Amino acid sequence: MKHLTCSILAAASLLSPAMVSAATEKATVRLDINAIDSTVTIPAEIYGQFAEHLGSCIYGGLWVGEDSPIPNTSGYRNDVLQALKDLKVPVMRWPGGCFADEYHWTDGIGPKENRPVMVNNNWGGTVEDNSFGTHEFFNLCELIGCEPYLSGNVGSGTVEELAKWVEYITAENGPMARKRKENGREKPWKLKYLGVGNESWGCGGNFTPEDYAGAYRRYQTYCREFDGNKLYKIASGASDYDYKWTDVLMKKAKDHMKGLSLHYYTVKGWNGSKGAATVFDNDDYYWTLGKCLEIEDVINRHDSIMNGYDPDKKVALIVDEWGTWWDTEPGTNPGHLFQQNTMRDAMVAALSLNAFHRHTDRVKMTNIAQIANVLQSMVLTKDDKMVLTPTYYVFKMYAPHQDATVVPLDVETTTRTVRDGRTVPTVSATASTKDGYLNVTLTNIDLDNPADVTIPLADIKKDMVEGEILTAKNIDDYNDFGRAEKVILMPFDGFKASKGNLSVNLPAKSIVSLKIKL
Ligand code: AHR
Repeated sequence: MKHLTCSILAAASLLSPAMVSAATEKATVRLDINAIDSTVTIPAEIYGQFAEHLGSCIYGGLWVGEDSPIPNTSGYRNDVLQALKDLKVPVMRWPGGCFADEYHWTDGIGPKENRPVMVNNNWGGTVEDNSFGTHEFFNLCELIGCEPYLSGNVGSGTVEELAKWVEYITAENGPMARKRKENGREKPWKLKYLGVGNESWGCGGNFTPEDYAGAYRRYQTYCREFDGNKLYKIASGASDYDYKWTDVLMKKAKDHMKGLSLHYYTVKGWNGSKGAATVFDNDDYYWTLGKCLEIEDVINRHDSIMNGYDPDKKVALIVDEWGTWWDTEPGTNPGHLFQQNTMRDAMVAALSLNAFHRHTDRVKMTNIAQIANVLQSMVLTKDDKMVLTPTYYVFKMYAPHQDATVVPLDVETTTRTVRDGRTVPTVSATASTKDGYLNVTLTNIDLDNPADVTIPLADIKKDMVEGEILTAKNIDDYNDFGRAEKVILMPFDGFKASKGNLSVNLPAKSIVSLKIKL
């Protein structure tokens, strides 16, 4: 299968860092329009979200309950609901994360007053009252118009429990369907994406890969397809550099799965300080981009192991947790993973999405962690206030790439070697076509210098192009409650069309999207 090629030609990689940052970057983005293959698309699911019972992701973030003074629709807060509709969320993973392997779905159905409480042992010992359960999640997906992605409990649950959950959700008739109907939902929901455990090498049961492969085969057997519902079963995969896990799972269970997951966080390390979300120097910034881009090497290595067992790429790699992980904000519960989100996070989102676009032959879904108030969120909420993060705006800018046809491209740009020896291109790009438009998204990571980007495009005229830009005065700028937004999407017209070239002046530390009428 043909797929996006993006070779970064390191034209000036031999220049010293000082020389690199002394002048306007000159970059060329060559779109290979003639090589477009209409079968090579960017699955909308690359833009997936993840909502866990963790801190105020669900409670306060998505759900406030029908009796809340915060404006809501059947318990879902209106401001967040609208923001997520605007984002065109394609798929949402729930209820965890680590929470999933301690969650018993029967606790979250039926009259709220009868639902048992539990302690959320993974996340700060918070008391969970189960008022947000299966019905609340599936109804939310219907309201937003996204596919539900369920994470089943393998670590502390039973085969029967998971089998009955699938039946409760998807069967037209029978004992589980009757129970669902008694609880107010006549029609079954559709359930496509089913995760069988989460991080089964750790919080999901501390399995060895061999033991988990056996458990996976057993659990998934009893997850039946009722009344025309088709399941896309996803096995719990590796954490970043754990290639053995992928090897064993592919060897022992590949014929029983549609997807194998991968978790990769842009994080300094798991022990000690991860660094503050809003306080960092230039060196830290560039390091972060190097670490985030390493996901591409990691995908390549997992992919090549999978190729050994599955050269036709029938099993997808599902990156169902990714994003930045910083220290929690001072004064917040350390178990709640609440962090701010700056223009640096926006850069991580853009570079990661570009990387996923380059691997759609194997990577069919990703889910950024997480949708609200946890890690690299789309929205932050405080009482009745909501803030859209810089990352939210990146997802908004990139939405036209969902289900679009990939346009192969080459980027000629300088590169920068960052702390730890990783290499980061100054200018990155991604492009796709859909509905008669060519959408090109450009990123200039340089903190000081603009980039003059030339895009050869026959017959291009300025009035065929509409642009938007995301940038900020400072790379550590962020949006906060009770003040005007500092990082916001703005119209952009810093481009000229002449003699078959679109010339774009890309400001320092900016992300630009161009919508070009074909
Ligand atoms: O996203 C936060 C946590 O990170 C998830 O619960 C877990 O799967 C991962 O370790």
